Amino acid sequence: MSNSEPQPLVSIRRLSKRYVQGSLWSKRFEISALKNVDLEVATGSNLALVGESGSGKSTLAKCLAGFEEPSSGEICFEGRNLLALGAKQRARTRRSIQLIFQDAASSLNPGFTAEDILLEPMVIQEEGAPEERKRRCVEVLEQVGLARLLLRRWPHELSGGQRQRLVIARALIMKPRILILDEALTGLDLSIQAQIVEILRQLRKAHGLTYLYVSHNLGLMGAIAEEIAVMHEGKIVERQSVQQIFRSPQHPATSALLAAIPGGSLAFVSRPERPTI
Ligand SMILES: Nc1ncnc2c1ncn2[C@@H]1O[C@H](COP(=O)(O)OP(=O)(O)O)[C@@H](O)[C@H]1O
Ligand SMILES: [Mg+2]
Repeated sequence: MSNSEPQPLVSIRRLSKRYVQGSLWSKRFEISALKNVDLEVATGSNLALVGESGSGKSTLAKCLAGFEEPSSGEICFEGRNLLALGAKQRARTRRSIQLIFQDAASSLNPGFTAEDILLEPMVIQEEGAPEERKRRCVEVLEQVGLARLLLRRWPHELSGGQRQRLVIARALIMKPRILILDEALTGLDLSIQAQIVEILRQLRKAHGLTYLYVSHNLGLMGAIAEEIAVMHEGKIVERQSVQQIFRSPQHPATSALLAAIPGGSLAFVSRPERPTI
């Protein structure tokens, strides 16, 4: 990398992750979920990691967000290798990397009000005085277009769309630099999906957030991301702009994902105005 190029926000190098499967009673075997993965994510970019089920997408997302320990390799965030940092520094840096996973909204703690849910990360991280914490709750609620009076509600008193916004608000409360959305739009009905996409678009414009989408759905990712990295059997096999991926896929795994898009991919490419976040 030359000096004139800005440093990538995230730079993953030769990342591998092996899981041991099997129980005491059955034969144990190893699965290589990630095989020497390299991935750079530029600040402010809007990248989607796409691949068939089991290709290693969630493992990569979890390693980056600190929920899994890689077997080997490096994860550099703003130039620092997270895996070489001490536990305290690592925890501080990891606030900047927030992961939203599929069904996060349905797993909100039913015994917590919306306010408790938003306060929890700050309490755990011992961040801010009580007044400051409350101010931030209101601020993030506004950012996702929710009214302040919802703070007193329990999750079951919120609509599906409101719960999904609350999950995003909770991810924003520690002021992250990158949001990883692992199938976070999957399974939402289309009107809620559209609302969430619009909120994410506004957040990106207002705060320069970086997004890493993770999904098996190339059609959906083609509509909201700018670049696509394709995963297959624990490796990134291709990375291109959305237009290039749709016009001239280079890898058979990409062609298979394109073939799986209902209605075909050509209709998409010919759309004159593609909405990007
Ligand atoms: N906690 C785990 N223990 C054992 N194997 C796992 C675990 N998590 C994922 N795997 C395996 O690793 C591979 C990649 O999984 P995953 O990253 O979840 O793929 P994707 O998100 O692309 O569907 C799969 O073969 C999966 O079975
Ligand atoms: Mg997954």
